[in-house]
Parts: sequence; C-alpha cells; structure tokens
Amino acid sequence: TKGDLPTIDPLRIVAKEMKFLTGNIRKLLGSGHPSLDRAAKYYTQAEGKHVRPLIVLLMSRATSLCPKAPQRQQATAQASAAIDTSISPQSILSDFNPSAGTESEPVLADADILPSQRRLAEITELIHTASLLHDDVIDHSVSRRGSPSANLEFGNKMAVLAGDFLLGRASVALARLRHAEVIELLATVIANLVEGEFMQLKNTARDETNPQWSEDALTYYLQKTYLKTASLISKSCRAAALLGGADAQTVDAAYSYGRNLGLAFQLVDDLLDYTRSEKELGKPAGADLELGLATAPLLFAWKTMPELGALVGRKFANDGDVARARDLVMQSDGIQQTRALAEDYAEKAIASLSLFPDSEAKDGLVEMAVKTLQRKK
Ligand code: FPP
Ligand code: MG
Ligand code: MG
Repeated sequence: TKGDLPTIDPLRIVAKEMKFLTGNIRKLLGSGHPSLDRAAKYYTQAEGKHVRPLIVLLMSRATSLCPKAPQRQQATAQASAAIDTSISPQSILSDFNPSAGTESEPVLADADILPSQRRLAEITELIHTASLLHDDVIDHSVSRRGSPSANLEFGNKMAVLAGDFLLGRASVALARLRHAEVIELLATVIANLVEGEFMQLKNTARDETNPQWSEDALTYYLQKTYLKTASLISKSCRAAALLGGADAQTVDAAYSYGRNLGLAFQLVDDLLDYTRSEKELGKPAGADLELGLATAPLLFAWKTMPELGALVGRKFANDGDVARARDLVMQSDGIQQTRALAEDYAEKAIASLSLFPDSEAKDGLVEMAVKTLQRKK
C-alpha cells in the first residue's frame, strides 16, 4: 500500500558490491583437496537470498553518512589498507596465498563502502552458510535452496567438516580485518549460534511436570531466536558501522536495527513453516513440529489451547501428535499473533534508523524490513 511511490529495490542500491559476492566467497573457500573444495562450495552454487551480506552492505553505505567517532578514524583507515582483497588459495591443502588472484577484483566499487565492509559482508555469509551445513545435519534435512542438502549429497561427516572449514576460512578473513572489536563481535556470533542451537535442543524452560503455558516459554523462545538468528545480523550491522568509523550512537542504532530485523526475520521463518509448502520454500515445510520444536505460532496457540501442553511435553513424539498440533495451531490465532509480533519488531528496526540522514541506502534498509514481513520463502 505505497500508492504510486516507486518501489525501492535494496539489491539495486548495492548491486555493484553484490555482484562480486559469490565469486569472492568461492575464492575464500578454495581448497587443493577436490572433495573438500566441492563440499565447501556446494551451498554457494544455488543462489541463496544473501540477506545478511545485503544488510551489511546497505548498513555500510547508510552509516557512511553518519557522524564519525574522531578517535577511530585513523585506525579504520589503517585497517582498510591492510585488507587483502585478493585472497585466492592455490597451494595444495591450501594456505592463503595473499599475492595470488589480484587480477579479478576491482579496486574499489564505491567510495562509501570500504573494502573491509565488503569483506565483512562475505564473512557473514560464510558463517551463515557454515551454520546451514551443520543445521542440516542436526535437522536431518534432505533439501536446501531447492537442491539436495549437503548432508544428503556428501554424508554427515563431510558436511560437518565442510562447515568447520567455512568457519576456519571465515576466521582467517576476519583476522585480516585487523580490527579487534569486530573480530570479537563475529567470534561471539559463532558462539551464539551454538548456544541458540543448544537452547533449541535442550528446552529447559519447559517444566515437563507442569505442561501449562507460561510466559517463560515465550521469553526462552525469543532468547533462543536472538542467539540463533538475530545475533549474526545485529552484530554484523554493528561491525559494519564500526569498520566505517561511525560514532557510538550510530553503532548502537545499527545494532538495534539488526537485532529487531533478525527477530522479525526468524518469526516470519517460523510462521512460513506452518503456512507454506515444501515446493514454495525449497526446503521441507512443517519441519519444526517434526523436529519436536514449539515455535512462536504454537506457543501463542498454546495460551488458549491447554491441550497442546501434553504434546509439547513429549515433543510431538506419539503417532498423530504432529497432525493434531498442526490442526490446533491452524485453528488458533497463533499465526496472526506471530505475524503481529514480527511487525512490531520490523517497526522497531525501522525506528532505529531515525537518526540516519536520508539516503538511498537508508531507504533500502527500511525496505528490507518491509520485505521481511512480505517474504514467502
Ligand atoms: C537454521 O535454522 C539454523 C540456524 C539459523 C543456526 C544453526 C546453528 C548451528 C547448527 C550451530 C552450530 C553451527 C555453527 C556454524 C556455529 P532452522 O533449522 O530453523 O532453519 P532451516 O529451516 O533453514 O533449516
Ligand atoms: Mg534446519
Ligand atoms: Mg535447525
């Protein structure tokens, strides 16, 4: 309902930078061992949505217009100069070879996005992709981005090792940014991903002897959701602002945007699991109940349908539990409440940008929040 206003395409605003993303990521992932090389690059073949790099690049551009932290400018200039944008491992069982591959990288696409921020965008996608490789093993997934999942294609062992390899290469690229605070942020993200996944596996908020809805269940779910999804987006937004030398207020605003957008993003993900088909998603639908997971739509449904308590308590393990839980959720207003909460977070994300000067990149960030609510997969 935006009347005649032309729709903003966030991708167009950073198209030049995005164009090199997949190629650069594949360069970061080169290995002299052919099967490792293939497994590591597997999820870079089918075009992902690249949501995280897109947000990092838009945030980099939007914050370039914000006030700077005077004492940090010097350090940032040094850090950017130290970035080697030409990492192309060529040796067998490859160490990085910093002097190789200079030919394919343009010097600087846009003055307002630093090479270090572009590299950060690649690092966020690497960490995200590593988490998908591990996640598909944990979830016994058979498809991802419309193709067989890596665990199905290569087996669990190779899929786990490929994920570890991505994290290793992401860590090297991160270290090369020579920015201690940014390294700390992204290293914390990796720990947070594991913490979130653990919270999901071991649901200690639920008291098995008292299967009644409690506010704690929702608090636990949101904490888990922050760790699992919003940590990466929020801390990489913060890191983008830091690399650009932005002042403390801007850095905090960037973080707040990422946190709220990340929470909205996962809430929508969790409701799409109920409302869309496998064909539409490019990955199995209805997967969360099958995995024994009670996400937001069910937690809201549970509030008015105490019958769900027993099913939650046994993780929908008995015959017919999944179908029954699904029916109850669909009869409830759980989906609508989940959407409403996602809308709240998206609005908060947009409000976080209020101090940013008007720019195309800022409009792009607003549009990302709008699109998060509209997305169908
Ligand atoms: C996708 O969730 C998974 C995540 C967002 C994070 C998973 C984290 C780990 C497996 C921890 C260890 C990994 C690393 C690399 C630190 P989902 O299963 O709800 O989404 P899906 O439907 O896309 O599979
Ligand atoms: Mg999964
Ligand atoms: Mg999972």
